[in-house]
Amino acid sequence: MTAPGYELAGSDVTVSRLGVGTWAWGDRSTWGMGGYDSALTEGSIREAFEASVDAGVTLFDTAEVYGGGESERIIGRLLADDPDRAGSVVLATKFMPSPWKVQVGKALMDALRASLDRLGVPAVGLYQLHGPVSLRSHAALAEALAAAHQGGLVHTVGVSNYSVTETRAIDGELRKRGLRLASNQIEFSLLRRAPETSGLLAACAELGVRPLAYSPIGQGRLTGKYSAGHPPPGRRGFSNHPMEVVDRVVAELRRIGEKHGGKACSQVALNWVMAKGAVPIPGAKNRAQAEENAGALGWELDGDDLEALDRAALPGIRSLQNRFWQHG
Ligand SMILES: NC(=O)c1ccc[n+]([C@@H]2O[C@H](COP(=O)([O-])OP(=O)(O)OC[C@H]3O[C@@H](n4cnc5c(N)ncnc54)[C@H](OP(=O)(O)O)[C@@H]3O)[C@@H](O)[C@H]2O)c1
Repeated sequence: MTAPGYELAGSDVTVSRLGVGTWAWGDRSTWGMGGYDSALTEGSIREAFEASVDAGVTLFDTAEVYGGGESERIIGRLLADDPDRAGSVVLATKFMPSPWKVQVGKALMDALRASLDRLGVPAVGLYQLHGPVSLRSHAALAEALAAAHQGGLVHTVGVSNYSVTETRAIDGELRKRGLRLASNQIEFSLLRRAPETSGLLAACAELGVRPLAYSPIGQGRLTGKYSAGHPPPGRRGFSNHPMEVVDRVVAELRRIGEKHGGKACSQVALNWVMAKGAVPIPGAKNRAQAEENAGALGWELDGDDLEALDRAALPGIRSLQNRFWQHG
C-alpha cells in the first residue's frame, strides 16, 4: 500500500504524508534503550520498520547525533537485511552545525560521508541542518549544502528549527545556487501550535518548503497512555507542559476519536498535524506503535473537529532544554 505523498521542492523526491522519527533507535539517555525501556530492542525496532513501510510510511528521519550515530547504524542494518523494503525508503538525516565547526564546508562533507557510511547508502533523500546554531553565514551554509548536492550525496536539502527570517534567508541563498530549500523540521503539535500562529507555516507554504513536524504526539503525551497520575518516564524535555494541562487536550482527542469510530488519540493528533500541511514524523519503538500511528492515514478530520482542536491546542513553552530551538 502506498499513501499519496508530497514532492519536495525542486526535486523528484516524494515523501510520504506521514514519516517515522528514529531518535529513540539506539538512544539511551532520553528514550531508555538498554535502560528504563527494556522492551526497546533492535528486534522491536525491526518490527516498527517493517510495519511502517508496509503501511506506506516510508520517510525515516534520523541524525548524526541520535544515539551517537547508533540510530543511523541500526537503519543501515535494517536496509541491508531487507532490500525489498529498502527500495521504497526515503532517508532524511541531519548535520549538527555546532559553532566550533568553523570550516563548515569540510565539516559538513565529513559528517555526511560518515552518515552515509553508517546508513550504508550512496546518498540520502534529504540532508538537513539540525538547527540555526552555526556562527557562519547563511551563504556559507548554503554553499556547503550545495556542494553536497552537487556531489550527488544528497537529493534535497533542508533545515530544522529555523524561524521565518532564517528560513527566508537560507532559501534565498540556496536559490542563488540553483537549489531549493525542501523542508524545515520544527516542533509542531497540539502541545506546540506556535509555528502556525507565528506565520512560520504560512511562510513555508509561500516558499514551497515542506514543514516536517517533530514530537507530533508530544513525546508520547498525546497518546492517552500518560496522565497527571502517570507521567511519562525519562527526560522528555519538549512539549513539557504540566500533565494536568495535557490531560485536557487528550480528553478532546478521545472525544473526537470516538466520534470517528474509535480512532486512537495519537491518530487524531497526527491527523490534525497533517491537516495543516505538515508531515508528522512520530517516533515508533515497536510494531504496535508503528501500526497505530500509520492509522492516521486514510481518513480526515472535519471542519468542526479542526476548530475544536485549534481551540484546545497549546501555543507551546520555552523550557531550558529546548529554548535554543524554539524559533517558530
Ligand atoms: N530536529 C529536531 O531538533 C528534533 C527534535 C526532536 C525530535 N526530532 C525528530 O522527531 C521524531 C519524533 O519526535 P519525538 O520522538 O521527540 O516525539 P513523538 O514522536 O511525539 O513521540 C514518540 C514517542 O511516543 C511514544 N509513542 C509513539 N507512538 C505511540 C503510540 N502509537 N502509542 C503510544 N505511545 C507511542 C514512544 O515512546 P514511549 O513508548 O516511551 O512513550 C515514542 O518514542 C524524532 O524521533 C526525531 O526523528 C527532531
